[in-house]
Amino acid sequence: MGFFGYKYKNQSFSFPQINFVLLCFLDNSTMDHGSIIFSGILKNQEILSLKDNYSQIGVLADSNTKTHCYSAIKNALPIHHLLEVPPGEDHKNLDTCKLVWQLLTDMNFDRHALLIILGGGVLGDLGGFCAATYKRGIDFMIVPTTLLAQVDASIGGKLGIDFQHYKNQIGVFCQPKATIIDPSFLNTLPERELRSGFAEVIKHCLISDSAQWQAIRTKNLKEQDWTTLVHHSVEFKKSVTEKDPHEKGLRKILNFGHTIGHALESYFLAEGNRIFHGEAIAMGMVMESFIAFHKEMITETELNEITSYLIQIFEKQEMPWGDSALIQLTRQDKKNRDNKILMALPEGIGKAQWDVTVSEEELEKSFDYYRSI
Ligand SMILES: NC(=O)c1ccc[n+]([C@@H]2O[C@H](COP(=O)([O-])OP(=O)(O)OC[C@H]3O[C@@H](n4cnc5c(N)ncnc54)[C@H](O)[C@@H]3O)[C@@H](O)[C@H]2O)c1
Ligand SMILES: [Zn+2]
Repeated sequence: MGFFGYKYKNQSFSFPQINFVLLCFLDNSTMDHGSIIFSGILKNQEILSLKDNYSQIGVLADSNTKTHCYSAIKNALPIHHLLEVPPGEDHKNLDTCKLVWQLLTDMNFDRHALLIILGGGVLGDLGGFCAATYKRGIDFMIVPTTLLAQVDASIGGKLGIDFQHYKNQIGVFCQPKATIIDPSFLNTLPERELRSGFAEVIKHCLISDSAQWQAIRTKNLKEQDWTTLVHHSVEFKKSVTEKDPHEKGLRKILNFGHTIGHALESYFLAEGNRIFHGEAIAMGMVMESFIAFHKEMITETELNEITSYLIQIFEKQEMPWGDSALIQLTRQDKKNRDNKILMALPEGIGKAQWDVTVSEEELEKSFDYYRSI
C-alpha cells in the first residue's frame, strides 16, 4: 500500500492507498500557486494533525463512492462525518445542495470545518459549490474517483450545478485546498464511464502532445497506462488553467470536440436518448478534425489517424439527420460571439487554435463526413 501526503500550513498529512499525485492550491484567490507538493511515505500519525487544523471534518460521498471508494480513506482520517447524497447528473441540482447544506448545519459545521469530496465530476462540482458557499465558504478538498474527474473536472476551479435543464447554470470559480488523485479508484469504475473519461485524455494528447498521442493510439482502452496518462492530463490542464483561469483565451483550446459534442449531447438528451459526455465529445472530435482538415490545419493522414482511433475506441454512433437542429444547437454554444460559430481546432497534432470561425456549410460537410465513415 502506498502512502501519499500533502503539506498544508506547513503540516504534513497522509492517506493510505493514495499513491499518486497531489495538487495543492494554497491560495484561493489565484491559481498561480497550484503545484504538486510531494508524494511519498509519511508517518500515519501525521494524519491526526488534520483534526488540529479543522473544527470538523466531513466526507461527502454518493452511494457508489461510499460503496467503492470510502474504505480507501476512511481509516486514514481522524474522526469525521460521512455525508451521503444520491449519485448522477440528475442530482446535480439545488435539491442536493439543500441536502448538503442541511447536513452541514445539522452537524454544526462552522467556518473552520473541512469538506472532503469523494466522487466523480458531479460530486466535485456540486460539493465544491456547497463548500464554497456554506457560511461564505469553508475549506474543501477533492478526491476525484472517475477518470473524467481526475483528468478534467477536478482541475481548474470551476464549480456549480445544473438549473432548470441548463447545465452548470449556477456556479463559482473557487480552488480546493488540495486535490488528491489516485488512479486505483478507477479499478471499480464501470467500463463505459472509463471510456467516457478517456475522450478527454485523447483530447489533451491531440491538442498538446503528439508523442503521447502516438503512444496511446497503439493501445486499446484496457491496455492504457492510467498512472502516466492521468499525470500527463493533470499537468496539461493545470498549466492551461493557471495561464488563463477565467477562459479569456488559451483555456478555450480545451473545447476541442466540445462545440459539436455539446450540440449532440443536447440533441440526444431532448430525444430521450442520453449518451455519455465522452461519447459525444469523441464524435465531436471526429467532425471538428474534419473541419480542421478542410481548413488545411491538419493533413489527410492526420485526419485518418484521429478518425480511425476514435471509431476503434468509441465505435461509430448513430448520427442524427436533423442538420438544421444540430446547427441551431451549435449556434447556442457559450463560446460563440457576434453571431459567429467559433471552435477550437487542432493545428497539426499536438497544437490547437481557438476562436476559429466555422461556417454552417463546413458544419454540414463535417456531419456528412461522419456519416460516410
Ligand atoms: N468543473 C469542471 O471543470 C468540469 C469539467 C468537466 C466535467 N465536469 C462535470 O463532471 C460531471 C461528470 O463527471 P463524471 O463523468 O465523473 O460523472 P459522475 O460524477 O456522475 O460519476 C459517474 C458515475 O460513476 C460513479 N462512480 C464514481 N466513482 C466511482 C468509482 N471509483 N467506482 C464506481 N463507481 C464510481 C458515480 O457514483 C456515478 O454514478 C458533469 O456534471 C460535468 O459537468 C466539470
Ligand atoms: Zn468535456
